[in-house]
Amino acid sequence: MGKQISSLVTWVGKTDWERRHFHGDELSTGRGTSYNSYLIRDEKIALIDTVWQPFDTEFVARLKEEIDPREIDYIIMNHNEIDHSGALPELMREIPDTPIYCTKKGEAILRGHYHADWNFVTVKTGDTLPLGRTTLTFIEATMLHWPDTMFSYLSGENILFSNDGFGQHFASDSLTNDTVDAAALYEEALKYYVNILNPYSPLVRKKIDEILALGLPVSMIAPSHGVIWRDDPMQIVEQYRKWADAYQENQITVLYDTMWESTRTMADAIADGIRSADPDVRVKRFKVSATDKNDILTEIFRSKAILLGSPTVNYGFTYAVGGLLEMMRGLKFRNKKAAAFGSYGWSGDAPGQISKKLEECGFALVNEGIKTLWVPDAAAIDACRAFGAAFAEAVRDEKADEPADAPQKKVCTVCGYVYDPAKGDPERGIPAGTPFEALPDDWRCPICKMPKSKFE
Ligand code: FEO
Repeated sequence: MGKQISSLVTWVGKTDWERRHFHGDELSTGRGTSYNSYLIRDEKIALIDTVWQPFDTEFVARLKEEIDPREIDYIIMNHNEIDHSGALPELMREIPDTPIYCTKKGEAILRGHYHADWNFVTVKTGDTLPLGRTTLTFIEATMLHWPDTMFSYLSGENILFSNDGFGQHFASDSLTNDTVDAAALYEEALKYYVNILNPYSPLVRKKIDEILALGLPVSMIAPSHGVIWRDDPMQIVEQYRKWADAYQENQITVLYDTMWESTRTMADAIADGIRSADPDVRVKRFKVSATDKNDILTEIFRSKAILLGSPTVNYGFTYAVGGLLEMMRGLKFRNKKAAAFGSYGWSGDAPGQISKKLEECGFALVNEGIKTLWVPDAAAIDACRAFGAAFAEAVRDEKADEPADAPQKKVCTVCGYVYDPAKGDPERGIPAGTPFEALPDDWRCPICKMPKSKFE
């Protein structure tokens, strides 16, 4: 049976409690996931997205418990990766002539996946589809995270169907954010953002600004994975704005792999050194080959700086460090600093090679790294502590050094826009260095046009 989420909309998706790997083995999904599909029953009936292919017959059978598929007037495919379009062939066997609304790229992808000549109707940003009391408006969201992606907004019910955007791999029966564990949901929403959307952060920021500028009322954000944002739905939009803006916390993460514990001993000493130099910084340590790779990537995203260590093996680094570096390259982290370390027996190549890779991944190198011959002795451990302390000093949180009376950033409580005095608002004639308090009384939020009184 479906689950009604508003007067006209019913969730008809699939909750996949058992899913532990996604995109092959690229992404871990420790809390399962869901493939959300939505049925809108107005004067016209529209179905938004389907589910992954292994659940296609179940999907169609359960859809039939809700409605005779022949009554569906329109199918809307916001994004056509196989986890959302996989049940389309099974559905189209029942209703082969029903029009499929998607972007031009969406049509190309559906044709490429299923080699079928269905009744495609391609749409662009601003195109609308009246359903009766409500209307669907389409908003292209190219590369968030595929070229075909679009969002659909249902006026009247004020629901934004955002497909992968704002999603989480998070299985639940209750389906809405106000009914699940908030901390667990935050973890999964962050992990999802880092591992799926981070490479496209500049586009995320732009798209959010574009949508906010439309001034649409939003009562729910209904993604294609995980829970629906029903309670304070804009909280996830505000969070995305922060994550998309070269996000970092006051955290240093020490990552290492080890063969005979020497590089692990170095990691311990480096972490000690960091803490001795900067007791305020959060220090985390992970053995790369023993920790979920996507969780590590999420910790890297949260960090202002990382240290990555490997013993030298076969004139290089370990396979686990190599795999992590390849994923780091793809995720395009911004605004991060780094250095390398590792133990060795004869050639000692790993720290140099890791440093080179880190630079290729866009990290700013703090120094040339440190290496230790064979098993670290007391002097080597002291050197690692000193190395950690110097690293902590080099990446010390600049905010901590700001004078107490430095101009403070202010956040728009309506849309999440951050006014940064260091940047000002040059497009509206406000020079860099202008404190918030010195802004003209008629200055308004550049995104949602709210007055200064809405800032905190
Ligand atoms: Fe959830 Fe990009 O598919």
